[in-house]
Amino acid sequence: MKNNFTITNNKLFIGGMSARELIGRFGSPVYVYDADIIKRQYASLRDTITYPNLSIHYACKANSNLEILKLLRAEGAHIETVSHGEVDLALAAGFTQKEIIYSCGNISFEEQKELMSQNIAMNLDSLTQVRRFGEINPGGKISFRINQGIGAGFHKHTITGGPESKFGIDITQIPEVKKLAKQYNLTIAGIHQHIGSNILDENIFMQAIEKLLETAKLFPDLEVIDFGGGFGVPYKPGEKALDMISLGQKITKALTQFMKAYGRELHVRFEPGRYLVAESGVFLTTVTEIKETPYKTFVGLNAGFNQLIRPAMYGAYQEIVNASDMTGATSLVSVVGNICESSDFFAKDRTISKFSEGDIAAILDSGAYGYSMSSNFNARTQPAEVLIEDGKPRVIRKTNGLPTKKLLFSEGLSI
Ligand code: LLP
Repeated sequence: MKNNFTITNNKLFIGGMSARELIGRFGSPVYVYDADIIKRQYASLRDTITYPNLSIHYACKANSNLEILKLLRAEGAHIETVSHGEVDLALAAGFTQKEIIYSCGNISFEEQKELMSQNIAMNLDSLTQVRRFGEINPGGKISFRINQGIGAGFHKHTITGGPESKFGIDITQIPEVKKLAKQYNLTIAGIHQHIGSNILDENIFMQAIEKLLETAKLFPDLEVIDFGGGFGVPYKPGEKALDMISLGQKITKALTQFMKAYGRELHVRFEPGRYLVAESGVFLTTVTEIKETPYKTFVGLNAGFNQLIRPAMYGAYQEIVNASDMTGATSLVSVVGNICESSDFFAKDRTISKFSEGDIAAILDSGAYGYSMSSNFNARTQPAEVLIEDGKPRVIRKTNGLPTKKLLFSEGLSI
């Protein structure tokens, strides 16, 4: 198992607390986050990319719990948002307008106007957004997202550059951006890219960074270059983590060389989401039923893809351990949930230490895109979230209870 958590007497401990005690106190299923791991991850980016004029904008779509936002803010992070709702959360967590950046495609003119009136810096995603910006604020400064034809990611749904991608303005359309900028007297002060998610190959990172630096030479008035997020974490046993010392050195060198040639030191941004929070989170569930069929052993959990959708949605691998018996004899099982769909699985044909009903199944690396992608599908609950900081656990979000109650309430009914 990964070295984030400890095992004592065959049992899993998270942030110094046993999984059993956590479930006993906070219920099951429950998301548990270890604050130390979030701090460790933030520090590993901050300390290795030593280019001085840098801000790290936490992409809060990965986990938008207010307490996690506050924690990362206290560490020095800024924030990246993708909706008006996320901007509101960022403000509620104490980020100032200046610390918030925003990028989203296909938003209404009203949303763009509202964001601009709040002075939220936007990475404009389309020629339409550039034109609208010019109409609202002629003479202003813009930043825009470029699709340079480079995309990467662990699944085709998480690749956000290249010909299939809906994101950004294609590199071949830069003349049109410049034309609009001229028409509305706009200064192109920023460029942005985000090529995809969960990238573990440092060469792809460097290739995309070098290419954006090359493109930056087309814009003499830049103040900021934003390289997006995408820093991966190892989900599978044996998968190699990014060597942040090596990557940090390469990034710093490329930036320093570029700034010399450009003649000015520009501000640089990164937008990591997953890297900061994924490994901090464990989704603790309880084994409700074990079903032997002529073909398989299904370990059924009191949870479903409405609460953690990554395996169902991308076939994503997340390590699952038997927190009640970490080192016992193993068996080959498929771990499934209680949602009425065949895609509702957490692991297929995996060898895990043997489960009995009532055991705790811990799904590791669930801190990113776990709770934040959860829903009330099948009228089931979204689980509670608990943060362990300085050895003390606290509820940072209560389970929202049965959604039927809320739905009926909004209709003026009750049960
Ligand atoms: N910046 C932009 C503009 C983005 O679209 C994203 C993620 C990020 C930053 C942060 O990317 P990260 O550092 O977390 O890779 N739901 C998928 C991941 C989708 C990511 C979408 N955009 C998953 O569960 O793996």
